Amino acid sequence: MDVKKIFPEDFLWGSATSAEQIETNSSNDFRGGKSETTWNHWFNQEKSRFFDQQFSQNDFFSKYKEDIKIAKSLNFNSLRVSISWARLIPDGKNVNEEGVNFYKEVFENMRKNNLKVFVVLHHFDLPMFAQNKGGWVNKTVADDFAFFAKKAFTIFGNDVDAWFTFNEPNIVISGTYWKNGIYPHENNFKDGMIAMWNMIVAHHKAIAAFRTLNLQTKIGFIHAIIPAIPRSNHQADLKAARMSDLFEIESFLEPIINGEFPQELIRELEIHNLWPKDQILDEEIKLIRDYKIDLIGLNYYTPNRVKSLSYMPNWNNPIAPETHWFNHYDLQNKRMNPYRGWEIFPKAIYDILLMIKNKYQNIECFISENGMGVAGEKQFKVNGIIQDDYRIDFHKEHIYWIHKALNENVNVIGYQMWTYIDNWSWLNAYKNRYGFIELDLKTGNRIPKKSATWMQQLAKTNTLVITTAEENKY
Ligand code: BG6
Repeated sequence: MDVKKIFPEDFLWGSATSAEQIETNSSNDFRGGKSETTWNHWFNQEKSRFFDQQFSQNDFFSKYKEDIKIAKSLNFNSLRVSISWARLIPDGKNVNEEGVNFYKEVFENMRKNNLKVFVVLHHFDLPMFAQNKGGWVNKTVADDFAFFAKKAFTIFGNDVDAWFTFNEPNIVISGTYWKNGIYPHENNFKDGMIAMWNMIVAHHKAIAAFRTLNLQTKIGFIHAIIPAIPRSNHQADLKAARMSDLFEIESFLEPIINGEFPQELIRELEIHNLWPKDQILDEEIKLIRDYKIDLIGLNYYTPNRVKSLSYMPNWNNPIAPETHWFNHYDLQNKRMNPYRGWEIFPKAIYDILLMIKNKYQNIECFISENGMGVAGEKQFKVNGIIQDDYRIDFHKEHIYWIHKALNENVNVIGYQMWTYIDNWSWLNAYKNRYGFIELDLKTGNRIPKKSATWMQQLAKTNTLVITTAEENKY
């Protein structure tokens, strides 16, 4: 028997993408006056770090009309893109008119197709002019970011339905300073803390600029929520989980929604002389207290299973939270996406939404990314169409838990999936594909997968249809 879960009429269905992952067709594609980003730079220096030595080749720069129509054909009513800082202000000082015209066209096309325009200002893509100053460890980069943000707000203002400063700055910090995944992959714990503080300040400087313009539109922030699940209820494991949540979630959500960096984390860092006190200005603390967001985007893919450390860490050489405060715990027989190496744990999306309700004043929120990247999808082709039932099942189960949260009065307004057309996944390049639409890299053709038809139906009817057997299993 079928069960129907009906969503509010104005619920947002959509997808997220980012400039660096879709706009270009090679690492040397600087059409339209874009300047070099850390990704161009890193790729051109060290291609072997990238799967199959491939750079982004979605070519949204010339195919945006076609791709926006595809988003509409899925019955989406919203779409998230990002503005490339290196395209809008290539030298950090002067606005590039070609960049302005490109994004104006993109936003206009989205509106013509009745897609609400969601725009992020920074999605992992730091221009090289900012990196050459030292990147986020240099405070002036926060000012440069606020300058870029103010220009973008002034130029595009109310053409955008919802603005967002950053996408997943926690991943930028861990990837750049702790885990060797984002250029210049420094392995320097303390620099990571300084950069984290500067990104929080950059966010608030941008919000302050936004508020001076009195726009009719909203502004928010998008975070990767990686909730900790402790190995056991032993005090040491619970403490490990607490530390993971402090680093991954509260370090950003507390200052950004509640106006203050968590004192508990400061105390922990001070014990080891790792809190960059000398870098923190009184005026920055005030700025963080004074400027708030209107809504929060929550990216969720996988939880973080943790356990207490099984060794004494060397505090003279702190590396990362997961080497010095907790360790990853490998639960046997967990449900996995083996291609990405991520655990699949849909109920956490409900827990996250409840956390927003209970700890963050039920601020307006939406799921801004969630999806399943699978390698070698061509093997699932029947009559030319990828039969991605695993993707449909993945989304159905997450949507079920979102509906449950909605019923418990969480202020959740939408679900944007990663992502509508296969795109470039950073170091994994085109290995794992997330799309409802296949991108054929040889021809550039966009070919709907089975999930595209399912998506069309879901968004058109605002109704999730599952069987009672599925409901019982969830
Ligand atoms: C999110 C990012 O962390 O996860 C996206 O915002 C990214 O940019 C997505 O593509 C999926 O991760 P990956 O590494 O598989 O592409």
